[in-house]
Amino acid sequence: MSETILILGASGQIGNELTQKLRSIYGNNNVIASDIKEGNKDMMVSGPFEIIDATDKETILKMVKKYKVSQIYLLAAMLSATAEKFPQKAWNLNMTSLLAVLDLAKEKHIKQVYWPSSIAVFGPTTPKKNTPQKTIMEPSTVYGISKISGEFWCNYYHEKFGVDVRSLRYPGIISWKTKPGGGTTDYAVDIYFKAVKDGSYECFLSEKTRLPMMYMNDAVNATIQLMQAKSEDVKIRSSYNLAAIDFTPEEIASEIKKHIPDFKITYKPDFRQQIADSWPSSINDSEARKDWKWKHSFDLSSMTIDIIKNLKS
Ligand SMILES: NC(=O)c1ccc[n+]([C@@H]2O[C@H](COP(=O)([O-])OP(=O)(O)OC[C@H]3O[C@@H](n4cnc5c(N)ncnc54)[C@H](O)[C@@H]3O)[C@@H](O)[C@H]2O)c1
Repeated sequence: MSETILILGASGQIGNELTQKLRSIYGNNNVIASDIKEGNKDMMVSGPFEIIDATDKETILKMVKKYKVSQIYLLAAMLSATAEKFPQKAWNLNMTSLLAVLDLAKEKHIKQVYWPSSIAVFGPTTPKKNTPQKTIMEPSTVYGISKISGEFWCNYYHEKFGVDVRSLRYPGIISWKTKPGGGTTDYAVDIYFKAVKDGSYECFLSEKTRLPMMYMNDAVNATIQLMQAKSEDVKIRSSYNLAAIDFTPEEIASEIKKHIPDFKITYKPDFRQQIADSWPSSINDSEARKDWKWKHSFDLSSMTIDIIKNLKS
């Protein structure tokens, strides 16, 4: 496959792993990782890395020309919990970077764009269970406002300028290689680290808070599958609902106890509880399953086995 890919924001939770998977498919030298900070060792040594500010369109263009880039994956963003603390900075980063990349595609410097949205586009008035693709969307967080605006921009650039932009509304992504960067679903990563290291965890969400989640392997596969789909099969150009599993802190804790019987969880909800309460508890992703044959592989049980095995070794 002859694509040259530039990843913006590659040193974060998703970027480190997505970069490695893309390098295994397209060749190490054809996937250029970039960020404002260095990523993990595997990513830094396996292929090219550049320091690029994702809001700096001129530098991105320089790199696009230098490496003859055909696709950009834009992962740089400020996430939900951090964005509530720095609303203006979050809006600026999340929007300026997206418009810069969409413009580069409009100007035909690149052929294809990937940009992730989030379940944060939904709000307290959205139907909570099995949330459909098209429904009431009144986000109550700065992050959600930036993501829903981004979705409209993606669709607009596709409709007006023919830009081939593709997007997924990720649920909470769970990984063990890289820690998450300031989201509301971070507890579902922290809990495994603390369970293996300390045998106990204090959760910042209440025990009955059900949220849509996904194992990193599935998120990476979905992303690449969408980018490789035939253009005519990608019928939604705002962003696709994407789902795998949903659970509460109580349920993940009892799954962990099957492997670490003495594990103890306590609950001390903080400001993130309000954000979580505004989001759906489960997502209907039938459009993705129909249009480009999306299918997840990991459930709560198989994900827990995989994470604990890896963290213990
Ligand atoms: N992780 C999740 O659970 C989740 C869920 C829904 C959506 N998403 C979306 O997926 C994308 C990636 O998320 P993530 O979890 O990897 O986030 P992260 O916070 O772990 O990583 C983001 C990266 O962007 C970098 N960055 C920040 N400002 C930058 C700038 N000006 N220029 C270049 N890089 C910059 C950071 O250094 C960091 O490495 C984001 O758009 C996020 O909104 C993530």
